[in-house]
Amino acid sequence: MQDIRRTMVARLMADPAPYLGKTVDVKGWVRSRRGNKYVQFVALNDGSSVKSLQIVFDLAKFSDDDLRLVTTGASIHVQGTLVESQGKGQSVEIQAEELQVYGTADPDTYPLQKKGHSLEFLREKAHLRPRTNFFSAVLRVRHALAFAVHKFFNDKGFYYFHTPLITASDCEGAGAQFQVTTLPLNDLPTDKEGKIDYSKDFFGKMASLTVSGQLEGELGATALGCIYTFGPTFRAENSNTPRHLSEFWMIEPEMAFYEIQDNMDLAEEFIKYCINYALEHCKDDIEFLAEHFDKELPERLKFVVENDFVRLPYTEGIRILEESGKKFEFPVYWGVDLASEHERYLVEEHFRKPVILTDYPKEIKAFYMKLNEDGKTVRAMDVLFPKIGEIIGGSQREEDFEKLQGRINEMGLEGMEWYLDTRRFGSVPHSGFGLGFERLVLFVTGMQNIRDVIPFPRYPKNCEY
Ligand code: 4AD
Ligand code: MG
Repeated sequence: MQDIRRTMVARLMADPAPYLGKTVDVKGWVRSRRGNKYVQFVALNDGSSVKSLQIVFDLAKFSDDDLRLVTTGASIHVQGTLVESQGKGQSVEIQAEELQVYGTADPDTYPLQKKGHSLEFLREKAHLRPRTNFFSAVLRVRHALAFAVHKFFNDKGFYYFHTPLITASDCEGAGAQFQVTTLPLNDLPTDKEGKIDYSKDFFGKMASLTVSGQLEGELGATALGCIYTFGPTFRAENSNTPRHLSEFWMIEPEMAFYEIQDNMDLAEEFIKYCINYALEHCKDDIEFLAEHFDKELPERLKFVVENDFVRLPYTEGIRILEESGKKFEFPVYWGVDLASEHERYLVEEHFRKPVILTDYPKEIKAFYMKLNEDGKTVRAMDVLFPKIGEIIGGSQREEDFEKLQGRINEMGLEGMEWYLDTRRFGSVPHSGFGLGFERLVLFVTGMQNIRDVIPFPRYPKNCEY
């Protein structure tokens, strides 16, 4: 058989009419095979759809030996006629005429034999996980959301701005950076005081992987107007939770002339746009995920896009938590950094809507946030989501040179002159936020664990592949 191009299964399923009765070529991986001595049915999946295409092998035409290698996991090319299906569960199928086996998969060793492997098992087999229905559905949704991010900002006139992954500054000041060095770790050069001599290091100074592209993003926004970043972000927090990764992707828009209200409006519009985009373009995948993992998923997604988010100052939020009468694991008082259980109480039990919490105490937020008139709170905004907790963190930025410099000195930050130049020369009110991409994918797919929405998750004590 000639090795001609394939037609994607998704295309044949979505609009079979032009192909019915015609010869088509499909290529993919065998998900399962069943049948009797007259006919064999093979479910073929090529990654383009969560649905597999049924291939019918008539045993008058194919011998047992022909089909011997067509086992779960094998890769095949089938040429045949697309016909309306007689059986239940699918609308079209292929009557096979020619078969080519590309690669076999030994049933004794191929790990993905049966349906319904646990998510934990599949996480251990992360290199083969994309071949499962669940994970390929997640990956297609992930792709659609990434595309939606670019489309949203491009259509609004924002510029995609690339900030460095290797940096000498610590944006969030949380000390959660991975250091980048070529110094020999078993024989570190030291200076006269016995401290590590970073002048000998690759960059001539201490460098790390970025925890956020925001500070560099502000340089872009104060030149181009509105920018966004979308790239990998690294945090060495020892957080072994279903919502933290050591390597995750973050989208950080930064807008000149935006105040906190504009920032909130944009965040709400942006997140609703992305969810709508997935609802529109990933129907089959979302339906599949809902059916298998989270029955309420479609309702929850619709609910979020159709309702206004609640906007509430932190101080009010604390009052509601204190008056709730609920026993939290972590205590609630003004000044506390809210734990996930507090955030989720506000969202899931009290308001039953996404909440944008604003005006946090300055002590628990980063140095760059704009100080309010009260001198105690800053113009921060966190968007809190059902099931997820914090999905976005952002703020209006301190544009006043003196105040910002004061804060930098107070916190003992060094090497920030380049950043201060944005306030020294042509400073403007500006704002921005960061959306954790995997937390968005988590929400839209209804998965429970953030490690199940990124192909190769990195977390403490785990760095496979
Ligand atoms: O709230 P964060 O730390 O904010 C910033 O980094 C700001 N510089 C953003 C900005 O204003 N430009 O992080 C932003 C978001 C969080 O709301 C969360 O969704 C996600 O990033 N995030 C993580 N996602 C997965 N794993 C982690 N370890 C994460 N840490 C933060
Ligand atoms: Mg945050």
